[in-house]
Amino acid sequence: MTNASNNLRIWITGASSGIGKACAMALAQRGHRVLASARNEDRLRSLQNEVRDAGYDLSILKCDVTDVASVDRCIEHMTSNWQGLDVVIPNAGIGYFDPLEKAQLDEWHAMVNVNIHGVLNTIHRSLPMLLSSKGHVVNIGSLAARQVFPNSGVYCATKHAVLAISESLRTEFRNDLAVTTINPGAVNTPFIDRTTNDELRSDYRPQFDQGMTPEYVAEAVCFAIESQGRGMVSELTIRPDRRS
Ligand SMILES: NC(=O)c1ccc[n+]([C@@H]2O[C@H](COP(=O)([O-])OP(=O)(O)OC[C@H]3O[C@@H](n4cnc5c(N)ncnc54)[C@H](OP(=O)(O)O)[C@@H]3O)[C@@H](O)[C@H]2O)c1
Repeated sequence: MTNASNNLRIWITGASSGIGKACAMALAQRGHRVLASARNEDRLRSLQNEVRDAGYDLSILKCDVTDVASVDRCIEHMTSNWQGLDVVIPNAGIGYFDPLEKAQLDEWHAMVNVNIHGVLNTIHRSLPMLLSSKGHVVNIGSLAARQVFPNSGVYCATKHAVLAISESLRTEFRNDLAVTTINPGAVNTPFIDRTTNDELRSDYRPQFDQGMTPEYVAEAVCFAIESQGRGMVSELTIRPDRRS
């Protein structure tokens, strides 16, 4: 660990919305150097403005994680501005809910492309810098990394893959890398709004409305990242508190 725990160089993908945006804000406000990337530049700019209004700063860069050249531009940005990287959070992810029988093949492919290929592209390109800083990979899994639910079988398959990727990194780089998988249950973000099955989208929306805030997930991410030598969160499952 080459950096003080409040001055880490952190790259987060899918930071224009939901969990990624909340993580980027929380990490920037805790004094870390953050590169927030996603495809939607307008939303990234408004994130940057919000962070600046709060008296902090962060860098933004357009990036489609399914496009290796786009991922490489983020790597170049960090190499020239930071000369390295301490933490990567491959958060970009999508879900289309549908029963298998009705599902559209292009939606399955899109989930595999973003949730698996996107995570792999991000990790593959970040690894040399992370190994040299003895850094940290924080993957965003899901309850769907451990369980399989109806209407989201392929999404669950992608999140099982994310957990397997985490575990393989942890096993192979035991002495050189910290690896965390955060497995949230329902979080109130626009995630479910992407589902094109109108009936399922409106059936599921209330479950997400009553889910955790993305800021709560960001607290878990900060906890994992800032452990820095005291211990390592390998897997953290967080669920909505349904008591009230
Ligand atoms: N919400 C939940 O209940 C929940 C629960 C467990 C796990 N998760 C996981 O948490 C992560 C974030 O989801 P969220 O709930 O915050 O959803 P969200 O609000 O819809 O955010 C998804 C983010 O992914 C980005 N993204 C999508 N395709 C991309 C691509 N090809 N390249 C780069 N960025 C891309 C989107 O930005 P652009 O469109 O601007 O690119 C957006 O910033 C996902 O991995 C999801 O699977 C969510």
